Amino acid sequence: MENTEKTYSMPRIGDMAPDFNAQTTIGNIKFSDYAKDKWVVMFSHPADFTPVCTTEMSGFAQRQAEFTELNTELIGLSIDSIHSHLAWVNNVKEKTGVYLNFPIIADLDMKVAKAYGMLQPNESETAAVRAVFFIDPSKKIRLIMYYPLNVGRNMDEILRSLKALQFSDKHKVAMPLNWKPGDKVIVPPPKTLQEMENRIADTSCEKVDFYLAKKSIEV
Ligand code: BEZ
Repeated sequence: MENTEKTYSMPRIGDMAPDFNAQTTIGNIKFSDYAKDKWVVMFSHPADFTPVCTTEMSGFAQRQAEFTELNTELIGLSIDSIHSHLAWVNNVKEKTGVYLNFPIIADLDMKVAKAYGMLQPNESETAAVRAVFFIDPSKKIRLIMYYPLNVGRNMDEILRSLKALQFSDKHKVAMPLNWKPGDKVIVPPPKTLQEMENRIADTSCEKVDFYLAKKSIEV
């Protein structure tokens, strides 16, 4: 049977984030020159002046200080014009007092949305899905979330994921189910018999068995 599904290439975890030059609400951005030495959380929304998107974009603005604290810049995107973005930002400010002052890409030619797999044509041919890309300071993609048009994202989970990535990098540990800051972390499992014997003898961590051990890290 002929496959009629439309697809675009999708960046994957571990890939370098595709570079782009784009018009945004704070002016032009060349991504490779932007946010040097910082993390970037880049997210798309289906359309300006739509209800779920307004709650989500307001959510990013209201928690922006927490992203700043985590050395992270925000970039939004939708397949709308810069005029639409400006009018929407102004409308949200007038109606709710929330100011969306992080850059929002006006991706009318869909170049950035296609490069990041934000345009998923079997969901919509004209609107980006709700994607979130976590990009580290070396511009490597570290985590990707995709949500459909009809389900809004969870800001607590977005911030928790960012904290987990940063904590994992800093302490060379992994995060168990439902980890949140302050919880015990997973100690990397042994890779040799000697390391296994050492782990079996180690009384400093909480062990289910030698391959599943947790410890607290004071911050
Ligand atoms: C919304 O943000 O409310 C929305 C946008 C596109 C499709 C469905 C819902």
